[in-house]
Amino acid sequence: MAKAKTYYFCQECGYQSSSWLGRCPECGKFGTFAEEVVKAESGKRRVEGEKLQSVPKRIQEVSYSETVRIPTHCGEFDRVLGGGIVPGSLLLLGGEPGIGKSTLLLQTALAVTDRKLLYVSGEESEQQIKMRADRLVGSGECVVGSTEQQGLKSGQVLPTTHYPLSTELYVVSETVTQRIFEHVDAVKPELLIVDSIQTITTEDIDSPAGSVSQIRQCTAEFQHYAKQTGVPVLLIGHITKDGTLAGPKVMEHIVDAVLQFEGDRNYGYRILRALKNRFGSTAEIGIFEMQGNGLREVPNPSEFLLSQRDETLSGAAVAATLEGARPMFIEVQSLVSSAVYGTPQRNANGFDMRRLSMLLAVLEKRCGFKLGAKDVFLNIAGGMKVNDPAIDLAVACAVLSSNVDIPVSPRYCFAAELGLSGEVRPVSRVEQRIAEADRLGFEKIFISKYNVRSIDTKRYGIEIVPVSVIEEAFRALFA
Ligand code: TYD
Ligand code: MG
Repeated sequence: MAKAKTYYFCQECGYQSSSWLGRCPECGKFGTFAEEVVKAESGKRRVEGEKLQSVPKRIQEVSYSETVRIPTHCGEFDRVLGGGIVPGSLLLLGGEPGIGKSTLLLQTALAVTDRKLLYVSGEESEQQIKMRADRLVGSGECVVGSTEQQGLKSGQVLPTTHYPLSTELYVVSETVTQRIFEHVDAVKPELLIVDSIQTITTEDIDSPAGSVSQIRQCTAEFQHYAKQTGVPVLLIGHITKDGTLAGPKVMEHIVDAVLQFEGDRNYGYRILRALKNRFGSTAEIGIFEMQGNGLREVPNPSEFLLSQRDETLSGAAVAATLEGARPMFIEVQSLVSSAVYGTPQRNANGFDMRRLSMLLAVLEKRCGFKLGAKDVFLNIAGGMKVNDPAIDLAVACAVLSSNVDIPVSPRYCFAAELGLSGEVRPVSRVEQRIAEADRLGFEKIFISKYNVRSIDTKRYGIEIVPVSVIEEAFRALFA
């Protein structure tokens, strides 16, 4: 019997210490240490005669069969996973409470009707799960299958799929891993879903549910189960607003993929991102819309992110951004007004504040506007968060438009980064952006002149406007 030992863990970052510390040497937080009992691992070597399971092989001798992924029947989810769930993998779906993690996985579980599934919930009773399932399936149009596969356009209402609840989906409300594995042995599922890792405990450890050592140990147990049986396990994990709760952080190293579900709760859009993915790209995102009866896929985000804007309103410009491999056209809105109080205000929604300050400084220097004495508000339509630097030019043009109170045509779009000296810099995969702008019916796209060299401008119906410095764009739009 292994001896139990006590350690102190930082609840923020998982740092382990044999004594209590006031301040964590790893993350610098104060008062985060908690005592947890851990069973000491026996460092014993293999006993005589016991068979060794792993054998080193030459790399040429290693054979494998092409893994067949389990499709989730949800185009957006599959896209983020890299084409379905890999057998034997351990996935973590993280996100703030209430963002829709349980909904997404239950919806997936209901859609995968051809396999036996076990949905373990430590948060909800079986009745509550059933109620949610009825809500997702019973009325209205529940989304099963990719809208793209069905050849539907975004915005089009999907056909009502009144289908009975899957007979292959088993649900159980349980929080102890040992008992979960007993259920697993009885049900023999092909996919295991656990909601959420913060509510699960193992009998091996004495600390409360949600503590670092519980989370680490339980995750390790699920990892072991997934690797041994080849049954993929989907774990749900909560994270706080700043995205740094100890739990999911210590799990990140153990799991094969970390998916993050995010979105502004005030808007219906939800974005699924892969922060880590051993079996696919981390550049892809999946976009969903939360509706009364579950999450609906949004395969074509641009078409509904662009508000039907009045031509006479100043302060808006459309950015041709790329998220993963997918072009996304987003409206940037800005309001510049004289500061009423002494210190001018700066506020940005969905855009980095420091980047905004930098762009304002560039505009002040290059275009000669006294923006330093003005309030500047910036908003990315639809509550989206954009990391693509190609949005810079649209941000600058929206600010300038509001400042001079001259509208930018809603049929113009922008795709370029801005440098510190006001130079308009090229962006990646510009042809894809141009092709999409063309398809969406834009009249002009403003790009860096360095991007124009490499493309055949005659291929597109859209007018391509090359600019080299921000002043040029300013003159072209507002002079
Ligand atoms: P939930 O999946 O429970 O969030 P999480 O598991 O991440 O904590 O969903 C939370 C919200 O979603 C809840 O406030 C209600 C809303 N919701 C809908 O709008 N439509 C639906 O069909 C469902 C099931 C939930
Ligand atoms: Mg939940």
